[in-house]
Amino acid sequence: VIAHRGASAIAPEHTVAAYDRAIEEGADYIELDVQRTSDGMLVVLHDTTLDRTARGPAENCRGAVGDKTMAQLRTCDVGTWFNEAAPELARAEFANLRILSLTEVIARYGGSTRLYIETKNPESYPGIESDVVSLLSSSGILPGSTDNPSVYIESFSAASLQKVHSLARSLPLIQLFGTMPAAEIVGQLPDVASYAAGIGPIVGDVNSALVRSAHANCLVVHPYTVDDSGEMLSLLATGVDGIFTDRPDLLRDMIGRTLPRTAGDPGCTAVARQ
Ligand code: G3P
Ligand code: CA
Repeated sequence: VIAHRGASAIAPEHTVAAYDRAIEEGADYIELDVQRTSDGMLVVLHDTTLDRTARGPAENCRGAVGDKTMAQLRTCDVGTWFNEAAPELARAEFANLRILSLTEVIARYGGSTRLYIETKNPESYPGIESDVVSLLSSSGILPGSTDNPSVYIESFSAASLQKVHSLARSLPLIQLFGTMPAAEIVGQLPDVASYAAGIGPIVGDVNSALVRSAHANCLVVHPYTVDDSGEMLSLLATGVDGIFTDRPDLLRDMIGRTLPRTAGDPGCTAVARQ
């Protein structure tokens, strides 16, 4: 159960409210989109610009994340937009929620909750891979078990993941895919398996054959982003290993209604990672 930006269906994404709620609802991982400020701080925000989710002084809370200092971002409120967008879910305590640095997230959750970190738009932040690896290392965050690592690094950028792989071989990586036919993803699996531990396809591109092929290449499959119970059950039946969701409570419930793994998946036959 990978809580996509936290329990972001019910609380403002990438805030303590969303992460706390995700953990209460039984998430295995909290998902964090990571970018970097102009003064080198790693921050958790999805969009490259602040305009959708930040409110506050325009000079600090409008425009590109990477153009602002951490001090500027600390003046922004990232909860009020949610109250405005979803009045039926609005809560007074969401107003004035603050943008979090990755350091703050690790301090609050790192010891007790598994982290799923995306290098977001890494081409805009040269060297962000090294910043993330250094912070994880200095914070004592290690992958732990291969079956259930305490941290994953994900990206749409193969180049970004390969940089992470060259810096820290033991960190498990997830190659995200935008919309792409399953057969095309299958063709890329042997290459992906040389550096990654799994794939993150869009839900609509996933079928049982893709899952079996990924498993045969020793890759786990974590589709994104699924908030519908029927879709969750269908995906679980294909044998996926995890699902990104804005509704960790619903996914936990659906997993509880699902039988153990399907037979007929021969699983991993060769580890090609170097
Ligand atoms: O990381 C999986 C999923 O989060 C990718 O989409 O745009 O929500 O980061 P996005
Ligand atoms: Ca993401």
